Amino acid sequence: MKHLLSAKDLSHDEVVMVLDTAEAMAATQRQAVKKLPTLRGKTVVNLFFEDSTRTRLSFEAAAKRLSADVINFSAKGSSLSKGESLKDTAQTLQAMGADAVVVRHSASGAAHLLAHAGWIDAPVLNAGDGTHQHPTQSLLDAMTLRRWYDPTSPGGADGSPAPRGRDLAGARVIIVGDVLHSRVARSNVDMLAALGAEVTLVAPPTLLPVGMENWPCAVSYDLDASIAELRPDAVMMLRVQRERMSAAGGGFFPSPAEYARAYGLDLARRRAMPDHAIVMHPGPMNRGLEITAEAADDPRSRIIEQVGNGVSVRMAALYLLLADEGNQL
Ligand code: CP
Repeated sequence: MKHLLSAKDLSHDEVVMVLDTAEAMAATQRQAVKKLPTLRGKTVVNLFFEDSTRTRLSFEAAAKRLSADVINFSAKGSSLSKGESLKDTAQTLQAMGADAVVVRHSASGAAHLLAHAGWIDAPVLNAGDGTHQHPTQSLLDAMTLRRWYDPTSPGGADGSPAPRGRDLAGARVIIVGDVLHSRVARSNVDMLAALGAEVTLVAPPTLLPVGMENWPCAVSYDLDASIAELRPDAVMMLRVQRERMSAAGGGFFPSPAEYARAYGLDLARRRAMPDHAIVMHPGPMNRGLEITAEAADDPRSRIIEQVGNGVSVRMAALYLLLADEGNQL
């Protein structure tokens, strides 16, 4: 595989291989000398047309820890404001010698266009395109889950690095909230299903997309019933994406207060989960809307750990796509 565009493109074995590589990268980060020479002489361009904190910074950290040079491009302050197109921007990067392009864009399909339009030769890594896909987010979520879910132990794992080859067969994961606008939900449904997890999406009907018949997951409108019946190993809360609702001219239905009551994760719902279950959120969080501060900061919350794992999976992805021993994805 030349590019990393969609979680759908990765087989079970490929995901496990990336996660095993990410664990190896994480092991290097626990040592005194964190920097590896692997990508010395390569240039990674971070091309961000949409705001980001975690993804942009962790791609930058990942590239630098592999000794690559990093060029950061953000739409704000660029010639995009003068009407420059994605094609001309891409060709400018190509002329500057980009060896890989990490792209985030508000348009679904932008990463695919950049990879396949013939404008650039470099591998493209999708850092989130519209409501479509965010493959490295689902990789870091899978890495986190793999550390806390042990298929041989009903009590779960202890968060230690996962043994090579572990998948998520039998893990029960509930993903809650604004599925309609969520590339995180789409990527995770694809990737977790590939790893053998049983995924249930829980959302109000107004925040579910139409045409979900072929998605490899179950759907529910009732969070309390889902927690009680499924006894999940993990509950992943989604950010309510109010900026995409207003961009579409739509209001927020149900109201924020109704939403928090029916779909927000608070301590009562956290305590209704099995003791070993973990709480996840891709960030950034709307504290008080989809998750209370108490639930976000609960000892079973793995939200900060997810961010740290993001550096490891992005190191793995860059290494597997760019290292001199040839494309390994
Ligand atoms: N989870 C995620 O993509 O966060 P950022 O928008 O901060 O990159």
